[in-house]
Amino acid sequence: MLDLSPSQLTASPIPDYLRNVYTWAYLTPWLTGFLDRQIVVQAILWGNAQRLIGDVLAAVAPGDRIFQPAAVYGSFSRQLAQRIGRNGRLDVRDIAPLQVALTRRKLADLPQVHVACRNAVDPEPLEFDAVACFFLLHEVPDDVKVQIVQAMLRLVRPGGKAIFTDYHRPHRWHPLKPVMQHVFAWLEPFALTMWSREIADLAGTSATAFHWSKRTRFVGLYQIVTAERV
Ligand SMILES: C[S@@+](CC[C@H](N)C(=O)[O-])C[C@H]1O[C@@H](n2cnc3c(N)ncnc32)[C@H](O)[C@@H]1O
Repeated sequence: MLDLSPSQLTASPIPDYLRNVYTWAYLTPWLTGFLDRQIVVQAILWGNAQRLIGDVLAAVAPGDRIFQPAAVYGSFSRQLAQRIGRNGRLDVRDIAPLQVALTRRKLADLPQVHVACRNAVDPEPLEFDAVACFFLLHEVPDDVKVQIVQAMLRLVRPGGKAIFTDYHRPHRWHPLKPVMQHVFAWLEPFALTMWSREIADLAGTSATAFHWSKRTRFVGLYQIVTAERV
């Protein structure tokens, strides 16, 4: 049984966008047993999950202190925690108590992992070597995208980095482009913005304090954007 007692989880209110759009995916206990598998994540990302996770792992180092603003199904957090090792620290947050409980349970054997309930727009004012924001931005409304990007950048120590992995505008002849347009229209109403706005542009004036680089994967459908604090 997942422990959802108040002593374990200090809940922030669930935002309307999450309740209205993603209840099935993140707030429905019986479905999480199916969704929280690496093979499902791999299928949702058209076989690219491990490659994208590998890009994040390559950007962090043993001993790093990492902030992950939202839970991720499958083995992303486990791989990140194993990469930084027991001398590192991985702080995972999520706005949904169910996701916090799931993440705590699946990573309970890793003492370097600390999981709590928190809205990514308002993280604790701490400093990290790296922030790993994995497929969160496309799931939130545009004004929240801006707030989250700016909040994540505030957490990066001098010389540290934020790594944003998310959807990106695919090449114009990408065979999956029309498929993804239908998926977005049906299930992911906030995702299409990722095709038209650069993540660096969401950072506002704070962008200038960072060196930005972008790599795309799978003929443009995915992006890994790294912002290194100069
Ligand atoms: C990281 S995103 C998507 C990840 C990817 N689809 C996967 O495989 O899990 C999903 C998580 O974001 C969380 N979330 C949404 N809005 C949030 C916010 N403002 N603050 C923290 N977590 C949030 C949801 O509760 C959900 O657990």
